[in-house]
Order: sequence, then C-alpha cells, then structure tokens
Amino acid sequence: MSDFDAAKSGQFKIGGDLPVHRLGFGAMRITGAGIWGEPDDRAEAVRTLKRLPQLGINFIDTADSYGPDVSELLIKEALHPYGKDLVVATKGGLTRTGPNVWVPLGRPEYLIQQAHKSLRNLGVDRIDLWQLHRIDSKVPAAEQFDAVKSLLDDGIIRHAGLSEVSVAEIEAASKHFKVATVQNRYNLVDRTSEDVLDYCQKHDIGFIPWFPLAAGDLAKEGSLLDTIAKRHGAAPSQIALAWVLKRSPVMLPIPGTGKVKHLEENTAAVNITLSDEEFAALDAEGRKAFKEA
Ligand SMILES: NC(=O)c1ccc[n+]([C@@H]2O[C@H](COP(=O)([O-])OP(=O)(O)OC[C@H]3O[C@@H](n4cnc5c(N)ncnc54)[C@H](OP(=O)(O)O)[C@@H]3O)[C@@H](O)[C@H]2O)c1
Repeated sequence: MSDFDAAKSGQFKIGGDLPVHRLGFGAMRITGAGIWGEPDDRAEAVRTLKRLPQLGINFIDTADSYGPDVSELLIKEALHPYGKDLVVATKGGLTRTGPNVWVPLGRPEYLIQQAHKSLRNLGVDRIDLWQLHRIDSKVPAAEQFDAVKSLLDDGIIRHAGLSEVSVAEIEAASKHFKVATVQNRYNLVDRTSEDVLDYCQKHDIGFIPWFPLAAGDLAKEGSLLDTIAKRHGAAPSQIALAWVLKRSPVMLPIPGTGKVKHLEENTAAVNITLSDEEFAALDAEGRKAFKEA
C-alpha cells in the first residue's frame, strides 16, 4: 500500500449496500471565494480532483449550491466517466443570491428540479446519495420529505440523506424515507451533534462530519494536541482527522481543499493510529473547550 491510501480508513456501506472508504473528500473548496464562481486556481482544482482515485478516495461530497453548479461541473470535467467504485454524493435545498449567502428553499418542485439538474451536471443516470441540504422552516417538513421519497421512488436518486438536523428531525424524516446519512458540523471542538452521532451509530446511518479539520485553540503550540501531533510526526489537522475517524465506525469525514498538497496531507492521516489513551485525552480536552466556548 502507498503512503496515501484512503482504504486504510476502513469501509462503510451507505444505505447498507453502497460501500465507500470512510475517508472522503468535500468538494466545496474547489470554487471561488465565498463558495461563489470559479476557483482562483482552476487547474489545481482539477488536479486535486484527478488525484482522488489515485489516493483511494471513492466518496466525494458536493452540492448544487457550491458555486452554484461549479463544483458539480468540475467533478464531471475531471472524473467523468466515473470509476465503478466512485460514489458522488450531492445535495439540494439551498439557494445562492451572492457570495457567502445561503438561503434555504424546500418547496417540493424546487427540490425535484435541482435533483434533475444535478443529474445533468454530474453526467449520471442516478445520483448515488442525494442530501436535503437544509430543512426549510417556511415549508412543511413533511412536504420536503415526500419530495425526497418521490426522488427515490422515481429512481432519480439511490439513497437519501439529511444535513444539519436533530434526532427528532431524523425520526420525522424516517417516517417518509430511509435516512442513509446525516451531515452535521462536527469536530474535536464542536460537539453539538454528539447525540445525533450516537443515534446514527445505533441505526447504522452514515455520519458525515463537516469542518472535520477544525481544532481551534487546541492546536496551539505546547497544547496536548500539539504534543500528540509532534509525537506522531504529524500536523495538528491530521490528528484532528485521525481522532474523528476513531470516534465512530459510521463516521465519514470529508475534509475539503482545492490543493493537491493539502489533499495528500489529509489522506496521510489514515496512517496515524491514536492509542486509546491519546484518543480519550483529546476527547476530554475537546469537550472542555466546547463547553467553555
Ligand atoms: N452540510 C453542510 O451544511 C456543509 C457546510 C460546510 C461544508 N460542508 C461540506 O464539508 C466539507 C468540509 O467542510 P469545510 O471545507 O468547511 O471544512 P474542512 O474540510 O475541515 O476545512 C477546509 C479548510 O481547511 C483548509 N485545508 C484543508 N486541508 C488543509 C491542510 N492539509 N492544511 C492546511 N489547510 C487545509 C482548506 O483550504 P485549502 O483549499 O487552502 O486547502 C479550507 O479552508 C466541504 O467541502 C463540504 O463538502 C457541508
């Protein structure tokens, strides 16, 4: 095995039948500033995407709203026709009215339109995993969940997931369709979704933590994280990733970058094995920092 092999992160079967290596890739950063328009260094973004299969990464997360459209179209440009093992997950349900502006829109006809657009943008007959990016509070949740169910029933999407949801919302959605994944913000120092993660683990739902590299002040010179990183000859962000991967077998982190060097560094985190003591010490520090924040 090479130094960079995401297979070492282990495997998870999305929806029970779609295997991916647990360390994936987030394709939000291959766009312009404010996740708006084309990336500054387009050639490097394409190189980064082309490097993914070589590193054993076979799970890519994107969204119609990244760019918008830019991320999905770049994925198609760089990687289509996709290898048979590559799973490209996308999302719909957020509109964009400018850089850094994200407005939920959950009307069923819009969600269905966007899933059809993603099919075209990605160049596929069926989307492997489509996630409702946000539940729109202005539209009855049941209508949004029924739109997702219709996409499953019509074969537009193979599996469906949710993003930024509570346990109660997963349970409500589960009355309409099988929830295959949940994508919430989660990292060493943001433990808001601890109960959601536990629920996902219990129900074999893939948990996709976004912003997985964050470690905040824990990465400061001389801190516990810094000491452990130096012990392993690693960067603090790699330790943060190794910690997230060890936290749960349903964890599917998707660190994002538009740079080959950073992609390789993130992938190399799968070579780090934290001891149970290191894991527990980091866990305690992370929880403490979260409570104090
Ligand atoms: N569901 C949601 O609501 C939601 C929200 C946000 C994100 N997401 C998804 O989650 C993915 C990850 O989230 P994220 O991008 O916010 O967080 P992240 O992956 O934890 O961090 C990405 C940031 O770290 C930098 N970076 C990456 N690798 C690095 C390295 N090895 N060394 C130094 N800097 C590095 C990136 O910049 P460079 O490009 O310069 O490397 C970027 O600024 C996104 O791509 C997207 O797919 C989902």
